[in-house]
Amino acid sequence: MKKNKTTALAESADKQPDVIIVGSGAAGLTAALVLAERCRVLVLAKGALDGGSTAWAQGGIAAVLDAGDTFEDHINDTMIAGGGLNRRETVEFVIENAPEAIQRLADLGVPFNSESGAASGVLHLTREGGHSHRRIVHVDDATGWAVQQALIAAATAHPNITLRPDMVAVDLVTDRHRLEPAEGKHGAAPGGRQVWGVYALDAQTGRVECFAARATILATGGAGRTYLFSTAPRGATGDGIAMAWRAGCRVSNMEFMQFHPTCLYNLEVKNFLITEAVRGEGGHLKLPPGVPGGAERFMPRFDPREELAPRDVVARAIDHEIKRLGLDYVHLDISHRDPEFIRGHFPNIYERLLGLGIDMTKEPIPVVPAQHYTCGGVLIDMAGRTDLAGLYAVGECSESGLHGANRLASNSLLECFVFGDAAANDILARWDSFAAPPPLREWDASRVADSDEEVVIKQNWTEIRRFMWNYVGIVRTNKRLERAAHRIKLLKNEVNEYYSNFRLTSDLIELRNLLQTAELIVKSARARRESRGLHYNEDYPQTQPAARDTILVPN
Ligand code: FAD
Ligand code: SIN
Repeated sequence: MKKNKTTALAESADKQPDVIIVGSGAAGLTAALVLAERCRVLVLAKGALDGGSTAWAQGGIAAVLDAGDTFEDHINDTMIAGGGLNRRETVEFVIENAPEAIQRLADLGVPFNSESGAASGVLHLTREGGHSHRRIVHVDDATGWAVQQALIAAATAHPNITLRPDMVAVDLVTDRHRLEPAEGKHGAAPGGRQVWGVYALDAQTGRVECFAARATILATGGAGRTYLFSTAPRGATGDGIAMAWRAGCRVSNMEFMQFHPTCLYNLEVKNFLITEAVRGEGGHLKLPPGVPGGAERFMPRFDPREELAPRDVVARAIDHEIKRLGLDYVHLDISHRDPEFIRGHFPNIYERLLGLGIDMTKEPIPVVPAQHYTCGGVLIDMAGRTDLAGLYAVGECSESGLHGANRLASNSLLECFVFGDAAANDILARWDSFAAPPPLREWDASRVADSDEEVVIKQNWTEIRRFMWNYVGIVRTNKRLERAAHRIKLLKNEVNEYYSNFRLTSDLIELRNLLQTAELIVKSARARRESRGLHYNEDYPQTQPAARDTILVPN
């Protein structure tokens, strides 16, 4: 499309957006900035604009930028970590587009660290588990914060982007919600296969509004909060995955929930990540003193790559040692390195720990594994398209084939930038094929009452997260998975009844999605009769010769 068409499109949009994006993290805002050059974009976020995982990312973004590194090495590292389940076409696409994605972020003003001072112009590259080379660009140890702020600033400044925080998407609007039959003049796909937008709860007013557009992008992040302990923020409840599933999209590889090896063990602060870059810069994992082998490294016993083995291997090793010795935590120790180096590389972690009475330049950090990343999600193609016309999914809520059975460190933000861009460009390229939305039904809240017992929501929420941690965690068995499936069945009736009878709140919306996502994880885990990557089942410890995706198809 040429520039003059750009203006025409934006003007004809009137007050209705051309595209709705649910999610204001790395994936959603990347797509918004590309689309906004040619059409009017509405971005919904369920809390603050920086409330997703993006703002919490520490380590950085993987990209081949060093002369001694190659795309082929990054591709191989990704496929090795992914247990061979990755789709090679996607891996190549993302990795080959990484340097350009980093350049776009630098152009937006993300202040990536440079080698020996800002003036050198050569980016400093750190190292993380599973990478055969230094290739992680970063902004100190708070990369995500810098990226999120730059994206929000650019989106806020763009006249074609409207940002609406505090809007909780409830469900996708499909052909089922049309006021007229599908064969009408608006030319929708028959049979409820078209998405026209979302219903979303305004958390300030308590009203559910219907937002319609020609195309909708889900960029809602992961489902980490399905687990009792997670590094992910409060809102990671799998909303986009659950909404897409309910609307008729296939969902894939949900059994591959990634556990980060090193979350701070602290009775008050439960989800503070200690970046893998600490191990990348020489940190050692040790048993605490006072147990057999105390104060000694244990990773050499588990894997020749030692502390820099991929996450699934390191997390399982820690879990094994904790269970074997009845420990609460293990130690991560980088105190053998120069204190100036530690403070310079990890200023935020250093300050945070110091505030909790731990000086990481002098003593080890107590750590435990915690849920960290959702590898599975809404099945998409190379342009972020889902099974439903008009619906795209990008970022952590999607399953593009990049991560396979285990995500390689710092490949996730990268996926958000590359697929956010790809989905937006696909929408622009196909713009003429997207019909204007038909008249749609407003949300009907006339038959619901105010909730009589909020405690039900809290109780169910905690119960789900607890049994998922205990039964569907780092090590699984058939019996544990069966127990989890049984609990989910019982809770489903209760939550559905509650959802049908009471006025919507953010907590209720999230509970419904949390349970739906838990069900998808357990179904996928039960379907996989092998151990691969992040999915380890003691009843099927072997890996099958052929790598197959677990693809769930809605009824
Ligand atoms: P998010 O950034 O999670 O954004 C989701 C958005 O969707 C939010 O705006 C949220 O409000 C919105 N949303 C969700 N549900 C709804 C709803 N129902 N209605 C409206 N809006 C909704 N990856 C790396 O590559 N490198 C790292 O160093 C790294 N470090 C990490 C550290 C931590 C502590 C964590 C938790 C993750 C880290 N990751 C890292 C993973 C990475 O941060 C995430 O995968 C990535 O940021 C996901 O981006 P996203 O845009 O898909 O979703
Ligand atoms: C970390 O900094 O260890 C997190 C990196 C990631 O999740 O990719």
